Amino acid sequence: MKRGTVFGVALGWLSSFGVATVPGKQIQLNRADVSPTRGALASPRTLRNLSSRPHIVEVSITAAPARLPLRPGVMSDVFAYNGQIPGPTLEVREGDSVIIHFQNKLSEPTTVHWHGLHIPAVQDGSPFNPIAPGEKHDYVFTITPGTAGTYWYHPHPDMRSGYQVAKGLYGGIIIRAADDPLPTMPEKLIILADNRLLKDGSVDFPALRSPQGIVDEENGREGDLMFVDGQLMPTITIRRGEVQRWRVINASAARIYRLALQDHTFLQVGTDGGLFEHPVEEKEILLANSERVEFLVRGTGQPGSVSLLQTLPYDRYAPQTRPADWNHPVDLLSLKYSTESAATPVTIPTTLRPIPVLDTTKATATKVVTLSQGLINGRMMDMSRVDLSAPLSATEIWEIENVVGMDHPFHLHGFQFQILDRNGVPEKDRRWKDTVNVPKHETVRFIVRYNDFAGLWMFHCHILDHEDHGMMGVLQVK
Ligand code: C2O
Ligand code: CU
Ligand code: CU
Repeated sequence: MKRGTVFGVALGWLSSFGVATVPGKQIQLNRADVSPTRGALASPRTLRNLSSRPHIVEVSITAAPARLPLRPGVMSDVFAYNGQIPGPTLEVREGDSVIIHFQNKLSEPTTVHWHGLHIPAVQDGSPFNPIAPGEKHDYVFTITPGTAGTYWYHPHPDMRSGYQVAKGLYGGIIIRAADDPLPTMPEKLIILADNRLLKDGSVDFPALRSPQGIVDEENGREGDLMFVDGQLMPTITIRRGEVQRWRVINASAARIYRLALQDHTFLQVGTDGGLFEHPVEEKEILLANSERVEFLVRGTGQPGSVSLLQTLPYDRYAPQTRPADWNHPVDLLSLKYSTESAATPVTIPTTLRPIPVLDTTKATATKVVTLSQGLINGRMMDMSRVDLSAPLSATEIWEIENVVGMDHPFHLHGFQFQILDRNGVPEKDRRWKDTVNVPKHETVRFIVRYNDFAGLWMFHCHILDHEDHGMMGVLQVK
């Protein structure tokens, strides 16, 4: 399939912006259909390290078709990394040398993109380096010191990322630091990925030109099944007084989560590129596509009580394709208090780690990037074109302007950046980010330093449907 053929459809989608008449059955979140599993949350398995040498992590990942019960009692034809959804977690330490023996047992090309990692461009698993069906490929890279945090991996083949992720290909990455400032405490990796299945269990991909296909293409594909580590409504158990560290990844194609935990606040300690300088108390956290968050949950509830983690209504949509039930909270998991006696309290440090300042007076250029519906700077992705270029080791400012009436989460490969301001309002805290949501008609500025790794890097909207249809560009660092 050529991008042009999709663009024919995309044009319909662009023109639909003026007229509020996109037909289409809206997706209803019918909780009764979901038959929640309500089991204990089982975080994905960790990839087994095949090496016994120090500071070497050697693992095998195979992408292959599988049949799994995504929804209890119904088997689905899926794609899976090492037979499981989500894929097994890659756990490494700062400074480790990582070797990943990857095998593509799918009948279509794929890649594995290490989202957020600062590694050489040829190891990035971008669309420039597809792995053909049946082929093997070793990804080899070193984990940069200072990058401890939560990341994830997913396919990134040209025009097929959304399809392959929806079929089940996504997994977590945890990078640990030798000098983690947080005390040891129970940890949960929580990967959020909604999906939509047909009655027979198959993953629902409507025809491009069908009413739902048009809605999916414009909104990005959302589903009524709110998978949490591949489970529906799982339970996390906590003791009164206990503190838990939750790492949350938004692996959804299009859904933005506005996370809130009943009767609790979050003590947010980190984001995409790792820990903050200081913990921040938050009532709710907005988590756009591909973003990660780390927060502490403090067991302040009563023994035996239950609090739900929910996503609250968040209007990222254009009016004509906004789902009818967008303004209802949706339950994700339950936090259940055991009746055990209270845990002994741990002390949370008020300073976590320093984050170096990227000095705006050192910036040598400002890149202006305009996001319109399906386009970046008025153009669709073309792999043979370099859209932006920058000298290696330069510091630059990016100004991302969203000129349309729906949110676009903007992602840059390879380099963590710091947000300077949103709509001219200076960002309060310094944080390492690789994705920033740019709400409708807003402008975000960030600063980035290309301190290493010349090559071709992607930047794109992380609504996977938008990315696949060409809302992506190429940055050359040389
Ligand atoms: Cu998470 Cu270019 O992607
Ligand atoms: Cu990425
Ligand atoms: Cu977008």
